[in-house]
Amino acid sequence: MTGANDIWKMGDAYESYMGRWSRPLARNFINWLAPRRGARWLDVGCGTGALTSAICELADPESVWACDPSERFIDHARKSIRDGRVAFAAAGAEDLPDGGGAMDYVVSGLVLNFLSNPDRAIAHMGQRLRRGGMIAAYVWDYADGMEFLRRFWDEAVALDSAASGHDEGRRFPLCQPEALRALFHGAGLRDVTVGVLENPTRFRHFQDFWTPFLRGTGPAPSYVASLSPERRNLLRDRLAGSLMVEADGSISLNARAWAVRGVLE
Ligand SMILES: C[S@@+](CC[C@H](N)C(=O)[O-])C[C@H]1O[C@@H](n2cnc3c(N)ncnc32)[C@H](O)[C@@H]1O
Repeated sequence: MTGANDIWKMGDAYESYMGRWSRPLARNFINWLAPRRGARWLDVGCGTGALTSAICELADPESVWACDPSERFIDHARKSIRDGRVAFAAAGAEDLPDGGGAMDYVVSGLVLNFLSNPDRAIAHMGQRLRRGGMIAAYVWDYADGMEFLRRFWDEAVALDSAASGHDEGRRFPLCQPEALRALFHGAGLRDVTVGVLENPTRFRHFQDFWTPFLRGTGPAPSYVASLSPERRNLLRDRLAGSLMVEADGSISLNARAWAVRGVLE
């Protein structure tokens, strides 16, 4: 379920918090998808453009529609992606542009769990697809393998049991292989496949891990912004004491995501 604290506004803050990990993840996803070249794409919830960039870089598209309801994210993406094949629209999954014809691929990166009605969103996505086209998406494994968020919420909840209401691992049961498979089957898609995308997340030092949580964009930073300075420092110190630091001061974690794809009959 999406919530008022899922604040998606500031492109630069998003980039330092999540974009730096969602960009390699998007490339990983395109490699998993192994799409055909010269296709027409629609990217739903493009944010600052991680997946749109990966499509342009790796899939040689004919065209890409990049949509997001956040005007500021669209603005950020428009400024950073200078590619004549890409068109942008400030639109959510519920009001997707028709893009001037049926798409070959409708994709969505790290978005499905934030939608109030994912079933309806997948149905809308299907309406933009040609028959035989593909819907594909990925979400973080918040409950387990997305380690930097997992560590964050485990420590936050240990300090403040009320934080569990914000913990994405609890809030987003959709972010599990069987739930994703059921969502795609429920939409009548065939050849539904779920895959795993593993991504290293290496932080140069503790501040590199912690500072992006102070910038207010996304569920965990929004939770940090709600804390008093004393509680925030307590959480910071607890995390600093619990993370394994390498000899050079760096912190190496893994970030796992689940990917799902299906074909429209
Ligand atoms: C975690 S970000 C992912 C952004 C980008 N796809 C990436 O991989 O970096 C989640 C995105 O979902 C967008 N979003 C929120 N509600 C949405 C909706 N109803 N339809 C489409 N996108 C939505 C947000 O604006 C935000 O850009």
